[in-house]
Amino acid sequence: MTKPSIKTITVRNLTTFLVALSIVILGIVALNFRYLSKEIVEDKALSIAELVKAGLTSHMKAEIMDKRDYFINELMSLKEVDFLTVVRSPEVVEQFGPAIAPARNSFADTAKAFSSRKPVFTLDEWRSDPKIYAAIPYVASKEGSLNCLGCHNVQEGTVLGVVCIELSLTNYRSVALKFMVGISLIAIIFGILIVMNSSKTIQHLIKEPLESLIDKAQGAYFERRPVNYDDFDSFEFECVAKEINIFNDNIIHNQEIINKKNEELTSLNFEIEDTLKETIFTMGVIEEKRSKETSNHTIRVTKYCRLLADKLGISEKKVNILAAATPLHDIGKLGIPDSILMKPGKLTKDEYETMKSHPEVGFAMLRHSERDILKAAAIIAYEHHEKWDGSGYPRGVRGEDIHIYGRIVALADVFDALSTKRVYKESWAIDDIKSVIKGERGKHFDPHLVDVFIENIDGFVKIREEYHS
Ligand SMILES: [Fe+2]
Ligand SMILES: [Fe+2]
Repeated sequence: MTKPSIKTITVRNLTTFLVALSIVILGIVALNFRYLSKEIVEDKALSIAELVKAGLTSHMKAEIMDKRDYFINELMSLKEVDFLTVVRSPEVVEQFGPAIAPARNSFADTAKAFSSRKPVFTLDEWRSDPKIYAAIPYVASKEGSLNCLGCHNVQEGTVLGVVCIELSLTNYRSVALKFMVGISLIAIIFGILIVMNSSKTIQHLIKEPLESLIDKAQGAYFERRPVNYDDFDSFEFECVAKEINIFNDNIIHNQEIINKKNEELTSLNFEIEDTLKETIFTMGVIEEKRSKETSNHTIRVTKYCRLLADKLGISEKKVNILAAATPLHDIGKLGIPDSILMKPGKLTKDEYETMKSHPEVGFAMLRHSERDILKAAAIIAYEHHEKWDGSGYPRGVRGEDIHIYGRIVALADVFDALSTKRVYKESWAIDDIKSVIKGERGKHFDPHLVDVFIENIDGFVKIREEYHS
């Protein structure tokens, strides 16, 4: 799954934070509105209660108490006053008669206002038209301009009555709601602006410089040139660019050391390989000098083998191994006594049998090696006298059971023997050699190999002329 980008994470976190912040702010605003509207309405209730008290006292003094209903009704028509009544105390009822109007059930706290002599407010807000029920007691006092004791036959401090007022909070709540909607809209607009600005800032200050830095860092490594840290506006990216330059310098320096070491190792490997090939070749030449072979036999046979293998189309690696191993094809002759190997005349049957043991001797000398060239040399030493029809030695294997290296060396070795002058014979004419080798097609030699040889006879002749004895 693709991981989110820095921009996505930041925008997501910022949005979450802003939404949470908006909810908290709206909550605080809502609670404040609730508190303020309650305080305002309660103050209003107290003011109205004072007004009622003053109005009723005035009516009493003017002896127009029968007109007080008009006054109360006028007050009830005031904005937000849904209901208003005055509940008289038993003392006032006894003195002046029953209450102006019956109290509503909703004013359950009227008794509490009588007993506590303090205003009691009840908030009923979980409804579509929230209200406050205020029960405000009139306490008899002789202080101030209204001396209650002048009209009422009661003790000072007696509750004369309770003004019950039902006030609506709907207007305040409506204002609060509109205000909160306004705040929400402002918060949304600011939130969007903040998120957009953050997104743009991240794009310009992080994403684009980061992509640019990655490009420049790659270029810096491959093109061996430092990242130009002045290209970056921020301090952080400048530091990273400098670190990349230091890192690249170290890598490039180490790479140069490794390359140098590799070159040394490669050179050493070539040296070792060349030394091995030269050693093998020298061993072949030593053997060649000891036997009756003509000089340059080893080098010619090696070149014939390389030519044949090339024309056969076998891999370059195998061709090289074959060419390196061919000089050892007669190494087994080191195990043949000088009296036989250097005998000028014809060998007796027993001597010939001894001579025929050189492939096995050579194989025994080389077979334990794990090196490719010496393993190939062991095969060649063992099989270069085998024949395609199975009439060869030492094992009499036939056809493709004889390794291709053995088949190649067999043909090359015979060609060299026929095409060079020996003490007991002259060199053969090329046409005669071709006839003999063609005649051995499918007998001594691999038929396909004979075809390749005939097709490329000019190359063989050229090698013979170049390295004639
Ligand atoms: Fe041989
Ligand atoms: Fe040979």
